[in-house]
Amino acid sequence: MLEDSLPYSNIAVNDAIQALQQGGLVAIPTETVYGLAADATNIEAIQKIYVMKNRPANHPLIVHLAEPENNNLTEPDWLSVLTPWARDVSEEALRIIFAFWPGPLTLVFKKDRHVFNEITGGQDTVALRSPAHPVAQELLRKFGKAVVAPSANRFGKISPTSAADVRNEFTNYPDLVVLDGGDCDIGIESTIVDLSNGDCATLLRPGAITPAEIFKRTGVVVNKPGVVFDNQLTARVSGSFRAHYAPTTPLRIYSPGRLLDCLSEYPDIKTRVAVAVWDSDSSLNQDGISYVQINEVLVPAGSVEFANRLYRVLRDLDQQQWDLILFPEPPSGEEWDGVRDRLQRACFGSGPSLSSHSNN
Ligand code: TXA
Ligand code: MG
Repeated sequence: MLEDSLPYSNIAVNDAIQALQQGGLVAIPTETVYGLAADATNIEAIQKIYVMKNRPANHPLIVHLAEPENNNLTEPDWLSVLTPWARDVSEEALRIIFAFWPGPLTLVFKKDRHVFNEITGGQDTVALRSPAHPVAQELLRKFGKAVVAPSANRFGKISPTSAADVRNEFTNYPDLVVLDGGDCDIGIESTIVDLSNGDCATLLRPGAITPAEIFKRTGVVVNKPGVVFDNQLTARVSGSFRAHYAPTTPLRIYSPGRLLDCLSEYPDIKTRVAVAVWDSDSSLNQDGISYVQINEVLVPAGSVEFANRLYRVLRDLDQQQWDLILFPEPPSGEEWDGVRDRLQRACFGSGPSLSSHSNN
């Protein structure tokens, strides 16, 4: 993204900094999704996040850090940024950071004893990330402190990927400062890797950066859930609720060529159905489904492009009053794990009656 083309101004960044300094919240762009930021050293400000999102207090927050200011960044530069927050930072961890930060990767470490319980949900670990978005970096640099920032949505709902999405999430907070950094490039939340268990690195949330890519660039093996797995680990990630990232309209996944079967499973579905179709496929065969009005929406057939569009399309369709939204099953392959994960959770939590059952 070209900095010149961003719809933000220095004035907006300064306003945002002032709000943070006064203990307020600010919505910030990152390359993954928009975040709802508070000064990470101000407990009252942090508590406002939980209230505004309606998020349970035991769900830990990610600390966002500025990239060190040095033209020739070295691993020790990053270590000095981490030291106030994390302990037992291994050589492998620094290698991962050096390869992927700033970027869409969150790392979980054993926490420094000064880190507030309000950030960690009372756990002995802390999640850290340095976002790549230039506006987020500028804010962090000028603010001179870290911010904590969950995705800027109400708990359990779809994460926002534009400034307008944030405003739509929080219409009851018209005074919220929203820093507009344009549409998010990645479109789904960061990959989370737990590095707090000695030599064992574990994937907690799939995202744009895959274990294969981490291995390729650093030689570090990241275990996926189901390989080395421990249920306690998943319970620590709020996104690991089965229902999450959910639209209010019922959402289901159909297998390739099985649209009719999928529709017949929902005989109570009335008339208006939105069907996402891979843009690489020819139009749907609608033979035999004349009883419903089907609206086709093309979605990109590449994993990166699909991630970039997923929340946008879900949000837009959710506002259009369809009776049912259908999405094609993502192909197998690690690069699809992040979007498959989000889509499955969105299905499980979708619909007006289900949306409240496990999230609040
Ligand atoms: O891309 C992202 O990560 C975005 C942007 C704004 O940075 N943030 C985001 O935050 O997705 P949130 O709060 O919606 O999700 C953060 C996840 C939660 O599922 C939380 O449980 C997990 O990170 N997390 C935070 N601290 C943790 C810890 N100490 N151990 C394990 N998981 C942790
Ligand atoms: Mg979230």
